[in-house]
Amino acid sequence: MKTYLVTGGAGFIGSNFIHYMFRKYGDDVEIINVDKLTYAGNLENLAEVEGRKNYHFVKADICDEEAIRQVFHDYEVDRVIHFAAESHVDRSIKEPLVFVRTNVLGTANMMNCAKEAWETGDGFKDGKKFCHVSTDEVYGSLPEDPDAYFYETTPYSPHSPYSASKASSDLLVKAYHDTYGFPMNITNCSNNYGPYQFPEKLIPLMINNALEGRKLPVYGDGRNVRDWLYVEDHCRGIDLVSEKGRDGETYNIGGHNEKQNIEIVKTIIEVLREDLPEDDPRRAHISEDLIEHVTDRKGHDRRYAIAPDKIHSELGWQPQTMFREGIRKTIGWYMNHLEWMKHITSGNYQNYYRNMYGDRKVLD
Ligand code: NAD
Ligand code: DAU
Repeated sequence: MKTYLVTGGAGFIGSNFIHYMFRKYGDDVEIINVDKLTYAGNLENLAEVEGRKNYHFVKADICDEEAIRQVFHDYEVDRVIHFAAESHVDRSIKEPLVFVRTNVLGTANMMNCAKEAWETGDGFKDGKKFCHVSTDEVYGSLPEDPDAYFYETTPYSPHSPYSASKASSDLLVKAYHDTYGFPMNITNCSNNYGPYQFPEKLIPLMINNALEGRKLPVYGDGRNVRDWLYVEDHCRGIDLVSEKGRDGETYNIGGHNEKQNIEIVKTIIEVLREDLPEDDPRRAHISEDLIEHVTDRKGHDRRYAIAPDKIHSELGWQPQTMFREGIRKTIGWYMNHLEWMKHITSGNYQNYYRNMYGDRKVLD
């Protein structure tokens, strides 16, 4: 039985990962979730597991050396699955230093504490591993050429403060491996979608706005391309890498599912119209008339596309949820969790929305 220290487990992918692990391993796994509970951390995401004997929550900042050292002292940790990060590109454009602190210094602190706990006189204890969860954004932006992809060997070329901070954290993790022989893997994944995603990100924001009859703010021409992966497929990939990934290796995770943003928004409108009951009053206002092209994101990367060849050939991973099925499940989940949405969109979210969208010009 392994003990996992999951950081950022109250966020979107972290909470999906914890659910995935309990579904897969049941009582044969112990999970310690370390989360600071920033605006993005939500314990409601984990209400179903909080009573389990093999689940423990520790509220702590990953930058806090004493608190993290204490976790390694209290538990014999086999795996660190490091999700905790500031994750939203738009926020990083407004407040870059918050991203440098958590994503760079926080990751360094996590590794330092793991290294201290796992180090023996002449190496590291057997079976330990640090899995750093990262993003395809570290590779920069691809041209519209459909044959161009991000490989593990693609040079890093991040453009936003978010992706630059994630790139820095990746390089630190690699440096710990090369310098100390620190046991680790890095995963670089494309855009995730699914349940429990904070509605600052494209898909939950559009679903929520559409259900409320609000405008759907598409940045620029809406033709930027992202490579969308259902979150459970990402979680399965991380578990596989953590079990079978070769020490020191990076694995790209993505499902060959490239879509322009405008296509995603139109699909959301279409599925909502198909799936809302005939007599639901919200149906009347959900149409493409809600779409509004607004001022573009600064430094907006044009296209991301992952080549998942390595994780497929070495570990047999491939996505199991196709987009149409995944988006329908996702929309269904948000329609059935209106209370969850209401809790996180009251209060500070309203200020966030005004601050982020209030000044954006509507384009012709
Ligand atoms: P999220 O913003 O939904 O969740 C982040 C979590 O980290 C929250 O629970 C938050 O409270 C916690 N956290 C933030 N700062 C912390 C700190 N200083 N100390 C402790 N906890 C802190 O993020 P997400 O979308 O779930 O992303 C998780 C990870 O996956 C990130 O590292 C992100 O870079 C990476 N990633 C995300 C995507 C995506 O599409 N969302 C794709 C690839 C990689
Ligand atoms: O590629 C992986 C990355 O995907 C992760 O590392 C990040 O943590 C995650 O946030 C995501 O980054 P993006 O910037 O691609 O995701 P976001 O949902 O913010 O935006 C997706 C696209 O939609 C992007 O081209 C910007 C556009 N967009 C976004 C919002 C929020 C809009 O047009 N309108 C919007 O209101």
